[in-house]
Amino acid sequence: STLFVLNGPNLNALGKREPGIYGGHTLADIAALCQAEGEKLGFAVDFRQSNHEGDLVDWIHEAGDTAAGVAINAGAYTHTSIALHDAIRAVSIPVVELHLSNVHAREEFRHTSMIAPAVKGVICGFGAHSYILALHALSSITK
Ligand code: DQA
Repeated sequence: STLFVLNGPNLNALGKREPGIYGGHTLADIAALCQAEGEKLGFAVDFRQSNHEGDLVDWIHEAGDTAAGVAINAGAYTHTSIALHDAIRAVSIPVVELHLSNVHAREEFRHTSMIAPAVKGVICGFGAHSYILALHALSSITK
C-alpha cells in the first residue's frame, strides 16, 4: 500500500532556504530518503509538494480514497489553514503532522497549529529525520 508525503509552501526551496534552521537537504534529497525508508517498511511513497493550499486539500482527499496514511509538512499553512484541518477531518486514514524545525522553540506565531487537533500525532524538530519518524509512526498504525 501507499503512504502520501505532502509538503506545503516554500519547501521546494529547501537547501537554500534558511539552512541554519531547516538544514542543507534539498526536498529531492528528502524525497529519496522517504522512498528508501518506505521500501524498507513495505510501503510505496507518493511524495509531493505544492505552494498552493487547495492542492494540499485535493491531495488529502485523494489519499483518503487511495492511500494507507499521510505524513504532512504543511509549512506555514500549518498555522493558518482551517481548510487543511477540515480536509484531514474528512478522511478516515491516519494523518501525521511533521516539521523539520522545533516550531515551539521559534516565533510565537509558529506555536499554534490549526491542523494538530485533526491529526493522529505531531513530530517536529528532527530536521530531515522528522520525515523518517513520521513514516515509522504511520507504519506502526497502518497495515
Ligand atoms: C516548517 C515550520 C513552519 O513554521 C514554516 O512555516 C515552514 C516549515 C518546518 O518544517 O519546520 O515552512 O513546517
